Amino acid sequence: MSTAVRAIKIHRISAPDLTRDLDLTNDELAHLLELARDVKSAPRLYARSLDGQHLAILFEKPSLRTRLTFELAIKQLGGDCVVCEGPIGKREPLKDVARNLDRWVNAIVARTFLQSTIDDLAAWSSAPVINALSDLYHPCQALADILTVVEQFGSPRGVNLAFVGDGNNVAHSLMLTATRLGANFAIASPPGYGPNPSVVAQAEGLAAVSGAKITITHDPREAVAGANAVYTDVWTSMGQESQAAERRQRFLPYQVNAGLMSLARPDARFMHCLPARRDEEVTDEVIEGPNSVVFDQAENRLHAQKALLLMMLA
Ligand code: CP
Ligand code: NVA
Repeated sequence: MSTAVRAIKIHRISAPDLTRDLDLTNDELAHLLELARDVKSAPRLYARSLDGQHLAILFEKPSLRTRLTFELAIKQLGGDCVVCEGPIGKREPLKDVARNLDRWVNAIVARTFLQSTIDDLAAWSSAPVINALSDLYHPCQALADILTVVEQFGSPRGVNLAFVGDGNNVAHSLMLTATRLGANFAIASPPGYGPNPSVVAQAEGLAAVSGAKITITHDPREAVAGANAVYTDVWTSMGQESQAAERRQRFLPYQVNAGLMSLARPDARFMHCLPARRDEEVTDEVIEGPNSVVFDQAENRLHAQKALLLMMLA
């Protein structure tokens, strides 16, 4: 039972949009995590916070978690939303789509193929735009992941996170969000599938300030040695389906199985953004094992996004 009796004071985010992880300042990120924990423990205190607000949810790609948790978050905060699925900016110019939407809604949540689609929507719409996954970033996932790390370890500072697999959108956002909070981040990917060098450079700048350590390697055993949590994601992201056969071959040595987990700390948590492909990036034994926190992560999508919406719109 929560002991909270009133909603905590909400700090407004300074950036107009959340197009990428670094649109949040370190202080805003810390406040968001605190607010998310309060929203999780006392959701009713925030049940009217978005009264009268309407959002548009635009998805170019499939989704279970992101789409439903945004819809639920908006409705549980007292707002409402409309959903539109399909390509953005194909039937008419993207800049026209953006300038239609900002006459109707208070904010736009968009999942796109290209990061530039998110950036263009934000440039052309006066309503705030939230990145619900692009080819480069998945900032809302990283918020839930770090909330889960806080719940599991008390604080992200000094926690050893190992990401094994594709240097993709999920890896980029986790690297940026974890390192600025002082978590050590190791990633092991096959040659040619590592994280984007400009994202790594940004993370290294953040780590220099926070004291976090970043390890980029091709060796999954090196990445997981001493890890408190081992994270993986699909080998083939949405939009890369034509590369699936080649990727399955290249990533096979990067499967998170009991053997690899045995090289991490004995109580190492297993993390995955989901959806997962069992017997590709993770074995059933690991994802169903006692140290798997994947459904905590999924639950925390809701609470972290509520906190984000409150800080952007309440
Ligand atoms: N983790 C995540 O973003 O899941 P969906 O693709 O189902 O939204
Ligand atoms: N990297 C995956 C994440 C899905 C939530 C993708 O982009 O398909």
